[in-house]
Amino acid sequence: MGFSNVTDSIYYVGVNDHQVDLFEGQYVVPNGMSYNSYVIVDEKIAVMDTVDIHFFQEWLDNIAAVLDGKKPDYLIIQHMEPDHSASIAEFLKVYPDAVVVGNAKTFPMMQQFFGADIAPNREVVANGGTLSLGGRTLTFVFAPMVHWPEVMVTYDAQDKVLFSADGFGKFGALDVEESWACEARRYYIGIVGKYGAPVQALLKKAAGLDIQVICPLHGPVLTGDLGYYLNLYNIWSSYGVESEGVMIAYTSVYGNTKKAAALLADKLKAKGCPKVVLTDLARCDLAEAVEDAFRYGKLVLATTTYNADIFPFMRTFIDHLTERNYQNRTIGLIENGSWAPMAAKVMSGMLEKSKNITWLDTVTIRSALTAENEAQLDAMADALL
Ligand code: FEO
Repeated sequence: MGFSNVTDSIYYVGVNDHQVDLFEGQYVVPNGMSYNSYVIVDEKIAVMDTVDIHFFQEWLDNIAAVLDGKKPDYLIIQHMEPDHSASIAEFLKVYPDAVVVGNAKTFPMMQQFFGADIAPNREVVANGGTLSLGGRTLTFVFAPMVHWPEVMVTYDAQDKVLFSADGFGKFGALDVEESWACEARRYYIGIVGKYGAPVQALLKKAAGLDIQVICPLHGPVLTGDLGYYLNLYNIWSSYGVESEGVMIAYTSVYGNTKKAAALLADKLKAKGCPKVVLTDLARCDLAEAVEDAFRYGKLVLATTTYNADIFPFMRTFIDHLTERNYQNRTIGLIENGSWAPMAAKVMSGMLEKSKNITWLDTVTIRSALTAENEAQLDAMADALL
């Protein structure tokens, strides 16, 4: 892939991955994934992070192409998750004199992953600590739990660049054209969604810096109207509502619960609801469904009573919501049960720790829709507008 300029003295040396089947073991990435790395060339030379182990040679070739015979002085490790750290040992085989820069939480993790102390040449930095490259000074800002505890971001005041670790990253390789928000949202909600409070803390720290360029570890380098990206991150990390609309997530065994979900969707559209998303949880990309639940302010869950519980896809979906601190939403429940309906009780119980939920009246179906159910769905649609 080679390299490209971010600024006159900062180079992109990352790689595109179109081989990964499931990113981080669970996310489908139809447009692949990028693992970003950067080289800062000053009086001293620093490499920012490494890449997934399957691409270490391509990455080392990119670095060599930038350096044209020179050697890097520093390898800065902002995050120890293997999509960024797995090639540290390979780097140090080629550049054994480079000093590895991390914090007090970085190096024990490095030891755990590599089974040995691979970085005896190290500099341990503190929160707010600095590293002079001669012309410019880098400042390290700890960002614990965005997305692991050792994460730090790095600010270059000379070029006004924030190296943001996983923050502002997205799914998708860089050789595929696609809009930023869709796959950045699915990435954020899926991977960082639980950690809204730490992201809010990082955004507050970033607000005090003059940032012209954001260099994340996944996805494109961000320039131009950074307020657009910062605003979305503020909404997502504060569990705010990004878009007006209703998501209806359902499971159905013989089609009767599906019929209720679809009828509600039709009623909402007929009544002028700005956006209705209807999702079959047994057949969708779960990460996309979770993303939609966080994107919109109103959610309807429709499922069957099953083994005295709820249908498994719905249980998994709600688990994904609650483990990401689902809150600040309006929720309606549709349950179906032929002899002892209890799905609504199970679903509301699973969500009982979610903060600031407005509950609508539950609709209970006994096997198939009745005229009374249709009237109840009509009332639910009115309550959702
Ligand atoms: Fe891209 Fe948390 O690793």
